[in-house]
Amino acid sequence: MKYSDLVRPDVLKQPVYEPGRPIEDVAREFGLEAASILKLASNENPLGPSPMGMEAAEKALREAHLYPDGGCWRLREALSTKFDLATDQFIITNGSNEFVTLLCQAFCGPGDEAVMGAQSFIAFKIGVLLAGAKPVEVPMPDMRHDLDAMLAAVNDKTKLVYIPCPNNPTGDCLTQEALEAFVDQLPDHVIFCFDEAYAEYSDDAPDLRPLIAKGKKVVCCRTFSKIYGLAAFRIGYAYGDAELISLINRLRAPFNVNAIAQAAATAALRDHDHVARAKQVNDAGLKQLVAGFEALGLEYRAEGGNFVLLKVENPGQIFETLQQEGIIVRPLKPYLLTQHIRITVGTETQNARLLTCLQAVLEGEESGDSASERP
Ligand SMILES: Cc1ncc(COP(=O)(O)O)c(C=O)c1O
Repeated sequence: MKYSDLVRPDVLKQPVYEPGRPIEDVAREFGLEAASILKLASNENPLGPSPMGMEAAEKALREAHLYPDGGCWRLREALSTKFDLATDQFIITNGSNEFVTLLCQAFCGPGDEAVMGAQSFIAFKIGVLLAGAKPVEVPMPDMRHDLDAMLAAVNDKTKLVYIPCPNNPTGDCLTQEALEAFVDQLPDHVIFCFDEAYAEYSDDAPDLRPLIAKGKKVVCCRTFSKIYGLAAFRIGYAYGDAELISLINRLRAPFNVNAIAQAAATAALRDHDHVARAKQVNDAGLKQLVAGFEALGLEYRAEGGNFVLLKVENPGQIFETLQQEGIIVRPLKPYLLTQHIRITVGTETQNARLLTCLQAVLEGEESGDSASERP
């Protein structure tokens, strides 16, 4: 008998998250120096990790023989000050991805439904399927969440509704007004999850707290993986009603977030210089990429966050050729976006390299050779 005969049948149907390709992988495949590879595939921070976060992490390493604080008290205290909410309104998770998975486990099961946009960040759909519930994917005309259609998709079986803002990969985001009007119309048996992984890149990110204060069934998740530059540590958080948070706490593993990550995140939260610099580099980088795409006559979407969507005729080919040149971007097949690639905004030098390479690849396509064949 094979293991696949023994496993729960739904495990065989479970989709697996496809991350951006790791640098080492691409280096091995193409015989390139890892240091020469530019990864613009996972919306990481091109400036690197928060220096204050790293200093705290290095100190915490010396205490590696001790179990971490399972309740992440210091970080929750720091977040409580930042957001002016109580400490028991926060949960710290192994990346915000873990939060989304736990939320689905806590509130969804077989026979339940969860509503999302058809091109919403895919971690939620994966979490819903893992919980044995049915993902209801609402079409996104012009790649935007269709709030009326999402409301129409809500029924007695609906347990969760999910919207990321800005959404990865489409970049669309709700205004405060639209967010409040949408949540106001959700029935009381539905929990709304707002994913703000990229909020710090925005000047006017919507705020879920007025809705929490009104007693609405809402929860917001955020991450240290993006502007704080701590993706490798796997640490994120969510805030909402204390009762909701305490229920989700029952499901998490006892020490789900390690001590090094906790120390790094707590310090990174105070690293205002790093956050400001990252935002500035991102704002400038977005302008640089947009100007470059326009000069190349390409269609793009650059709406929010630290990434852009680029429309190309042959995304698979462009992805492959850029990869041979040492640049990793992200094809978007899992999102059924078959004419786009997603590119993380880099530093000025990185963006310039991407644009030059992209131009060579596109010209090569027109003339029938590949960029790697040219001197
Ligand atoms: C919208 C959105 N939410 C969550 C995440 C994942 O964050 P984390 O690294 O904290 O799991 C991402 C990562 O790309 C994202 O784009």
